This record gives sequence, structure tokens and C-alpha cells, in this order.
Amino acid sequence: MKIVIANWKMNVGVRESVALARASLLTLRGRKVIPELVICPPFVALSEVRKVVARSSAAIGAQNLFWEPTGSHTGETSSRQLLELGVSHVIIGHSERRTQLGETDEMVNKKVLQALSEQMTPILCVGESKGEREAGEARAVVETQLATALRGVRLHGNARLLIAYEPVWAIGAGESASVGDVIEMHRFIRSILANLFPDAPAGQMAILYGGSVDGENAYRFLRESEVDGVLVGGASVKINQFKEIVEAAAEVLEAQRPE
Ligand code: PGA
Repeated sequence: MKIVIANWKMNVGVRESVALARASLLTLRGRKVIPELVICPPFVALSEVRKVVARSSAAIGAQNLFWEPTGSHTGETSSRQLLELGVSHVIIGHSERRTQLGETDEMVNKKVLQALSEQMTPILCVGESKGEREAGEARAVVETQLATALRGVRLHGNARLLIAYEPVWAIGAGESASVGDVIEMHRFIRSILANLFPDAPAGQMAILYGGSVDGENAYRFLRESEVDGVLVGGASVKINQFKEIVEAAAEVLEAQRPE
């Protein structure tokens, strides 16, 4: 399994999103095997992007949701509203929301529970800051984030849970984490998930890396069996970069196919 998630953040408007969605889908053309592609446009572009993506294998993700299904929550968006727009995935706990808007692990937990209760797939983001890594606290920080965010979570039926390991210092920095550090952290996260969900079948959970993934380094991450995919920010709105990332994922999948 290889998953490529495009997080367009607040970087594109509606018209640009439509063009980018079309171009992103073209990157899948002519391939024998393709990665799972999840496109996460800004909220304002969701319904237009849905029209573009409708008859493709790509899925649409939102960049956030609120933890109540309905009610007086000015400016918020619920999972029910997102489902109406054909949104199947949702990014939760992105570090930009944690640092810029004060989103806490408790809020993240409520959002994960809400998403799963409506059969949406959470893309739960975790990761340490530079200071925490330098202080040797990276694992402890990620463990706490996961323990709180996944409190009370049960994975019923065909529910899926995607974890994006995104070290805060590597996001938008132009410099990714090292492959070795990523593998080590993914193993650690996998062991935590195995403890929390001992009966989960293979494929129900996936661990992705995010943080300055680009056309040049994507293959190095994606070829690792510990890395189920990548969450791409800046390079996902640069179509030439994004094409290379999708090609890297497809190449890895093709190499894994039995003769
Ligand atoms: P980046 O962002 O690829 O621009 O580092 C990743 C993310 O924020 O999800």
C-alpha cells in the first residue's frame, strides 16, 4: 500500500484548485498500478474539486472538521456537511492548527472520534518540535499525542485510520527528516498502534511521513516498507513536483508486483 495525500492548505483559490485537481489526476494516467491519491483542497473549493474527481479513483479530504455533528458553531464545518460534499478523509491535528490556533490533543481526540463515527477516515497528524527532538523527547511527545488523540477510539468494520508523522521542524522547511529517523519513528508508532488495536487487520491503519516531501526525496521515503505513504504540502501545489512524487509511489508499487 502506498498513499499520496495532497494538502493544498490555504494556498489555492477555487479556480486554481479545479485546474490543480485535473492536473493531479493526470499524474495517474497510463500507470499499471497507482497509489491511493487523496486530494485535500481548501474548504471553499471542495464542491468544485469533487466534480473533477468524481469519476476517478482519487478521494477527497478536508483539512479540518468540528467535533459536533450540527449546532451553533459559527464558522465551523461538520463531518455531516463534509460527507454531503463527498469528502471521505479528513486531516486532523495538523501542526499548523496546533501552533497557530491552539488546537490541543483533547480537541484532536474529539475530532477523531467524530470523524470515525461518521465513517470518515482521519488523517491524524503527530510530530515533535525541533526543541523536543533536540532534548531527546521526540518519542515521548509522539506517544502522548497518540495516546490522547486515540482515547476511546474503536476501529469497527472497515474503518480506517491514517497516521501522518510530521516533525514540526520539517514542515515547509525545505529540509525533510532523515529516512533513518522516519523509519525509527514509524516503527515506534506502529508498536503503539499494535498495542491499542491488537485485532486490527493489515491495511486498516497506515503510517505516512510528511515534512518537505518533494519530487527529489519522495522515492527515498516511499521505497521503505515502513512508510505507507506521504503527506505532501508545498510540493502538492507545484504540479511538476507532485507528478514526480506520484511517479515515485507508482514505481515502488510496480517493483513490488509479483512477476
Ligand atoms: P510541506 O507540508 O510538505 O510543505 O512540508 C506538509 C504538511 O504540512 O502536511
